[in-house]
Amino acid sequence: MSTQSQTVLIHRFNGIPFTTMSSPDLLKSLDAFDAREDDVLLVSYPKSGTHWLAQIIMQIYTPKVTLTSPIEFGDISRVEELNNLSSKRIIPTHLDYNMLPSNFKVKQCKAFYIIRNPKDIAVSMFHYYRDNPNLPTIDSWTIFLELFLRGDVVCGSWFDHFLSWEEHKNDRNILFLFYEDMKKDLPKVVKKMSVFLGVNISDNEIKEVCEKSSFTEMKSNVEKEKSDPNHTVCALTSNRKLIFRKGAVGDWKNHFTPKENKMFEEMFTKKMELSELAKRIIYEC
Ligand code: A3P
Repeated sequence: MSTQSQTVLIHRFNGIPFTTMSSPDLLKSLDAFDAREDDVLLVSYPKSGTHWLAQIIMQIYTPKVTLTSPIEFGDISRVEELNNLSSKRIIPTHLDYNMLPSNFKVKQCKAFYIIRNPKDIAVSMFHYYRDNPNLPTIDSWTIFLELFLRGDVVCGSWFDHFLSWEEHKNDRNILFLFYEDMKKDLPKVVKKMSVFLGVNISDNEIKEVCEKSSFTEMKSNVEKEKSDPNHTVCALTSNRKLIFRKGAVGDWKNHFTPKENKMFEEMFTKKMELSELAKRIIYEC
């Protein structure tokens, strides 16, 4: 990654790399953010399946709700913009738990945290960096993997993000979901999500939600639409076509060499020693 592009596109806040699309003023002001009791947070480390989750949630809710772009994205005017929304807000965020505005914690807002196996996340993020002009240039997969393991990528270390949220795994207002479970049995996960949200939906409606949230359906819809920055939950691109790449479990095997896999496993074992959720992560289809 060239130093110049890194400087122009990335800044650090609380030690975490953010793109310049998240202004320092906004990040500073977030702690005073006025959460509402009925806000629903959609929390993820980038490339974990945020758009997929958003698509499902928006269909579970039949009354009008507003899906915002991530709370940390934009300049200081975001705060007022979000304050002015009169409808129920579904708010995505890539913030780690420590940076989450405290009002969401005090008001015990419902939150989803989507987990995906970090090897597939690294691969997905690598392609995203390569295709996205809003992110620094990457010279090779090997270099990117080193940056990923060091936490020197946008939103920082996957390990730190995951662990900061895992500390709250017993909080009743947070539902932890796994991307791989969604791939395996989406109706079951949609049912679980609707129960958590307190929304009654029939089996037929669940079937419809699943059909409309399939990778093929979402990808083909995006290919038909015009690029619209207000139309994406991702803070890092206005081109939604970049989001839907393969949508698979296990693509890491097409990228990791045995040596890279060993390096990854060693770090994972060390960092995740005490993690219970990490033991449930699935790497194979
Ligand atoms: P890949 O790059 O591996 O294809 P996010 O929304 O957090 O940015 O995550 C993007 C990743 O989720 C991409 O992974 C994308 O293809 C995948 N994804 C998006 N919608 C999906 C769906 N309906 N089913 C499965 N995967 C999906």
